[in-house]
Amino acid sequence: MKYDFDSIINRENTNSVKWDFRFEEGKPSQWDSTYSKHGAERVLPLWVADMDFICPQSVIDALEKRARHGIFGYTRETDAYYEAVQSWFKRRQGWQIDPSWITITPGVVPAVYMLVQAFVKPGEKVIIQTPVYYPFYSAVEGNDAVVVRNPLLYEEGFYKIDFANLEKSAQSPDVRMIIISSPHNPVGRVWTREELNRMGEICKANDILMVSDEIHSDLIMPGYDFVPFPLAGKDFESFSVVCTAPSKTFNIAGLRTSNIIIANETIRRKFLDVLNRSGIHGISPFGMDALIAAYNEGEEWLEQVLTYIHQNYEFLKTFFQKNLPEIDVIQLEGTYLVWLDCRRLGLDSMNLESLMLEDARLYLDEGYIFGSDGEGFERINIACPRSLLEEALHRLLAAVRAGH
Ligand SMILES: Cc1ncc(COP(=O)(O)O)c(C=O)c1O
Repeated sequence: MKYDFDSIINRENTNSVKWDFRFEEGKPSQWDSTYSKHGAERVLPLWVADMDFICPQSVIDALEKRARHGIFGYTRETDAYYEAVQSWFKRRQGWQIDPSWITITPGVVPAVYMLVQAFVKPGEKVIIQTPVYYPFYSAVEGNDAVVVRNPLLYEEGFYKIDFANLEKSAQSPDVRMIIISSPHNPVGRVWTREELNRMGEICKANDILMVSDEIHSDLIMPGYDFVPFPLAGKDFESFSVVCTAPSKTFNIAGLRTSNIIIANETIRRKFLDVLNRSGIHGISPFGMDALIAAYNEGEEWLEQVLTYIHQNYEFLKTFFQKNLPEIDVIQLEGTYLVWLDCRRLGLDSMNLESLMLEDARLYLDEGYIFGSDGEGFERINIACPRSLLEEALHRLLAAVRAGH
């Protein structure tokens, strides 16, 4: 492998959300990054979705070059920016987009919030498929709209869409929007063309706007194919919004640059109207140059990081099968977030959380934060050096075997 994903890069004291966390709101604060200095074992963080790997060298070079200029004034996005985005989606996903379809936002989450503001009035409804990335709930509820849950069906260790229930929910006259995570965080599914098509046909029949959050769409495991929502059916471009970013793909989330792709002009104008009224405009020079370098020159790095993540996944799966068969590992089709079914440990949410934090000294994402149907599950971020993952798994094993 040309790139080194094995070295542990110390992220402590870099103001990293993942590593320099503080426990507040009733959680003991001793689990902060200084805890190791008090002689105790540091809590290993495998939670929030960023990677513990150095990003592609092309990105670092571009940022260094920009930094050396020394002036960081207001910056306009260039043709090269739009060409890089356009070329990436054509090359990687076979999706031909027009540059005019792209709206730049400082993140996918703010875009999802603004989409709700643009298309859903207070009291109207939005469908989400749970367990799911928790900001989907807050984007809806925080804008006084109503969440309609279409819980995913979990059968024999596999998550499926409940199409019968989706069809029924979609017929409610107040439903304006569905927000999907594609691939799905946290259950790791890469929706098939057929599944996307069925969802799309239901939206079309009921005049529902599809918001497809495709931030993880470059992180696909071998054997699975990602299909951008608009390519899954006839005219799907006419009622969909696709949220994209290079942030998860290249580990540059802190640079706050994402692209919201909307082919339909009426929908785009309505979204732009809310964006403009929020006063958000412009792009950071660092975000722009990083995106161009990543999309134009980062492909080899991406291929290798995907191989490494897949090997981490195989390592984790084998570890659980051999040592901790009472925890079921859900098949990882996409993302670097593995969903673990811990229900056979027989612990309630509070005790499971305390097993992870206090006994195993691991900071994972608790399943319940993704919705009540996530209770008894844990989400582990495996985009880290293998030795770190191995250490985490051994800690978990020791904690479970010591009894809780
Ligand atoms: C499904 C999904 N959407 C959006 C985000 C974050 O988006 P952003 O940082 O661009 O606001 C994440 C991060 O974990 C995610 O998993």
